[in-house]
Amino acid sequence: MTRRIVLGVFEMMNPSNGMPTWTDPRGRGDDWDRLEYWVDLARELDAAGFDFLFFADTYGYATLDGVMPAQVAAHGIQFPALDPMLAIAALARETRDLGFVVTSPTTVERPYATARRFATLDRLTGGRIGWNIVTGSSQSTTDELFGVTAELTHDERYDAADEFLDTCLRYWEHSWDHDAEVRDRAAGVYADPAKLHRVEVDGRFQRSRGVFAVPPTPQRTPVLFQAGTSDRGRAYAARNAEAVFIQGQTIASAAAHVTDIRAQAELGGRAGTDVAVVTGMTVTVAATSPEAHALRAEYEALLQHDDAAVMFAGITGLDLTGIDPAMRVVDLRTDLGQTLVQRYARQNPEMRVGEILDQFRTRAIRGFQITGSPTEVADEIEAIVDGSGIDGIMLEPTFGGPDAYRAFIELVVPLLRERGRLDTPVDAVATASRTAVAGVGGTGNVADTGRSAPDSPVPGTSPVAGTGAPPAAGAAPRTLRERVHPGRGPRLPPTHRAHGLTARSGDSIPPPSPQPSTQP
Ligand SMILES: Cc1cc2nc3c(=O)[nH]c(=O)nc-3n(C[C@H](O)[C@H](O)[C@H](O)COP(=O)(O)O)c2cc1C
Repeated sequence: MTRRIVLGVFEMMNPSNGMPTWTDPRGRGDDWDRLEYWVDLARELDAAGFDFLFFADTYGYATLDGVMPAQVAAHGIQFPALDPMLAIAALARETRDLGFVVTSPTTVERPYATARRFATLDRLTGGRIGWNIVTGSSQSTTDELFGVTAELTHDERYDAADEFLDTCLRYWEHSWDHDAEVRDRAAGVYADPAKLHRVEVDGRFQRSRGVFAVPPTPQRTPVLFQAGTSDRGRAYAARNAEAVFIQGQTIASAAAHVTDIRAQAELGGRAGTDVAVVTGMTVTVAATSPEAHALRAEYEALLQHDDAAVMFAGITGLDLTGIDPAMRVVDLRTDLGQTLVQRYARQNPEMRVGEILDQFRTRAIRGFQITGSPTEVADEIEAIVDGSGIDGIMLEPTFGGPDAYRAFIELVVPLLRERGRLDTPVDAVATASRTAVAGVGGTGNVADTGRSAPDSPVPGTSPVAGTGAPPAAGAAPRTLRERVHPGRGPRLPPTHRAHGLTARSGDSIPPPSPQPSTQP
């Protein structure tokens, strides 16, 4: 069976999206901090039928021995950066269907604030929000910025992240019964106090008590993405994630990854397919193969060895320039990001430290690197998806600006659509579509689209997912959850089973008291 591909874009709200390309005219050095730049990008992706725009993010920045190397500021290496979450409401206002996935760490945030921010966005966007859960890159600088002194090991950070998510889930799923928000003007009752429940968490890492301030939202829980694929990271994903973001390098290694995550999910009592796996991918496409390769060569010429060393250190805490180049990669030890080190160690157990930077310079933390004519690119994407079991791809920009996405939309999307790999999008200029859904004078928000019960089926939407057929005219937008798991219909996130929380309404919240609050 031809499998549909979930399609996203991988972005960061900084001058260069991770690769120091901001000086190139095709970059976004002058645009990255303009809201209009992101609005235009979101509109283009929405009109082209992309499922989501994903923002990686971190509070930290790369350091060597606790100090920011000069290149970080001088070359704009993931620095400076804005907080992408604050732009999402504006981007959602200007788009109709596009989902938004925002990265937020479990290390320095507090669960209640995170739960409230994502719930607010889910409500304001009509259920188009996902959370990329991370235990944090550049963690040492982040800890310093926040004054965090408790030293947790790599695995303890994931233990704390389990409790963090459990706490959020209790607020999202259990604090309000689905029919608690009555908004009965005649009776003068906004919400039924008997249908609100106190949450009580008294864990090793998290403590929180009270009633959630945000009423149920279209998805209740944002779609739970996770990135971080060390052994402990995968266990976390298998227990919690609805989608895992990986940086696939080869079909074989990606397939091993998919198999492992699905097997671990099944051991935990979930269906393996409950976890969608999405890989990053840099596509350089042009009308002919030689043109595409020439473009790729221009791009690679911009990338410097020294910058690569700084980026690597920022993620792993390891300054490769100060380590014996003949040392075996498998012997490297770090308590920060292990995914990257394991990537090289798994590739070749005999690989030496000196070889890492040669590869890392042009690939950095990115996924598959694909270059070619439209047909070559479409063929390779299909081979990757079918050969690895991956569910989706997230495009990474080359020079930083929107050109790479535009070339993909123009040259590759039509081929993938013809081959039944992508849905046909709602033919939408955002504003016109919003009016069609909301009716004249509507706002296009959740209230106007008529979604009441969270995760309730929206008639006329999910049946088209995965079929390649366009949604009926005027059909309500799908939630992000329906897009990430196309064709399977809306459903509660599986995490609830994993967490022993089986249903939202009427259930007691273990271990909190069932006593309803009278003062929400
Ligand atoms: C593909 C990928 C993307 C990531 N994106 C982010 C990010 O945007 N922000 C962040 O703070 N950490 C990010 N991380 C770091 C992870 O969340 C994790 O904290 C770190 O990699 C350590 O866990 P690990 O050893 O399991 O990799 C990413 C990791 C991977 C593998």
